[in-house]
Amino acid sequence: MKPLLDAIEKRRSLRSYTGERPEKWQIDNIIKAFMYAPSAMNWKPCHLIVVQDREMLKKLSLVTPWAKMAEKSALTLVILGDPEKSRWWIEDCSAANENVLLEAADMDLGACWVQVRDIAEDMEPEKKLRELLGIPERLKVLNMIAIGIPKRYKERHTDKEIDRERLHTERF
Ligand SMILES: Cc1cc2nc3c(=O)[nH]c(=O)nc-3n(C[C@H](O)[C@H](O)[C@H](O)COP(=O)(O)O)c2cc1C
Repeated sequence: MKPLLDAIEKRRSLRSYTGERPEKWQIDNIIKAFMYAPSAMNWKPCHLIVVQDREMLKKLSLVTPWAKMAEKSALTLVILGDPEKSRWWIEDCSAANENVLLEAADMDLGACWVQVRDIAEDMEPEKKLRELLGIPERLKVLNMIAIGIPKRYKERHTDKEIDRERLHTERF
């Protein structure tokens, strides 16, 4: 069995896709990875919208200046949190995001986090997504994840990135 570190090393932000579709089991695994993530008190405040409609993907790609890859993605996930359900929704949704990114890498799919919360406010990305996707007011949008079959892979993460400046042993 492959160690999880293999997927952790392999996971890169991949932003160009062939246009082919992942298989159904791969999309099912992505959904499982999201839903099986930990959450504070097990309150599960995170929601997932899976978008595969080509016209909608184009619209999603325009909500921030850093979302272009969504247009050619096979699917883009929109990740929402419910602050009324948990004050730790950002942490919980971030954990679910990382699960998805690692599962995508493990299946050799390309994926990239697209920030929505607290970014490009002049473009009102959250408001646009709310209108496009019928997101209720009580839910907040954290981010999107574009996913597709990558045109090319990037180098793996390596030991060179173990940053001694940021690594503290026993105390700071
Ligand atoms: C919170 C967060 C927000 C990010 N937002 C974007 C984004 O809006 N668009 C984008 O292309 N990449 C985005 N990224 C991906 C980062 O640019 C990427 O993780 C970083 O450059 C390191 O590269 P790697 O993921 O290949 O290791 C984001 C990553 C994180 C964790």
